[in-house]
Amino acid sequence: MKHKPESVNVSMKSIVILISGLGSNLRALLESDLPCRIAAVISNRAAAPGLEIAKQHGITTRVVAHHSHPDRESFDTELANCIDSYRPDLIVLAGFMRILTPQFVARYQNKLINIHPSLLPAYSGLNTHTRALRDGVKIHGCTVHFVTGDVDHGPIIIQAAVPVLMDDTPATLAARVLYQEHRIFPQAIRWFCNGDISLSADGKVLMKRLEQPGCALISPEME
Ligand code: GAR
Repeated sequence: MKHKPESVNVSMKSIVILISGLGSNLRALLESDLPCRIAAVISNRAAAPGLEIAKQHGITTRVVAHHSHPDRESFDTELANCIDSYRPDLIVLAGFMRILTPQFVARYQNKLINIHPSLLPAYSGLNTHTRALRDGVKIHGCTVHFVTGDVDHGPIIIQAAVPVLMDDTPATLAARVLYQEHRIFPQAIRWFCNGDISLSADGKVLMKRLEQPGCALISPEME
């Protein structure tokens, strides 16, 4: 399925998506009929399979290779220049596995969102599923949040929780979480593009949405 052509709606918000790898979240976004124009997909790795997914959907792709830069600052400067050439309203980190400098994050304050495979603030960083299994938690999940200077922290937009099963491996747990990532990430971007999200003075995401006060995921199931 090809993404909608650029000229469909001039008032539409424009987004740029950054990836590093497989691009399954990118695919979920491209297949979600988002109310925005996807101006470009940028990867820090030329071999990222996600670039091919973007091309198949007719999206412009760019590579800003981190290894051709001597330090984070010069990489982030080239990355920012590349992003700014598309004048996006939102920058989406969809499996972008580089730590960004405080200057980069500040430049895109409240315009930069990330998906992370854990229920933040638990398990920031890498190997989230392995660590959750090692700790024996019964509920795990994923988070979409605004990016701040603190890696994998920032105002939370939406989370999904999944049960951890007795015979889970990091791979089976990752697959269960990833399925939910593909659901909540398009939702978060849709809310942003439709102007449904605002931030409170103390840095929390405010939105008028249906809440579910009687709803609980209990894991394992009770008798
Ligand atoms: C996803 O699980 C995403 O949550 C994670 O990388 C994976 C990318 O998969 N991101 C992070 O860990 C960021 N801290 P994908 O390339 O198939 O979308």
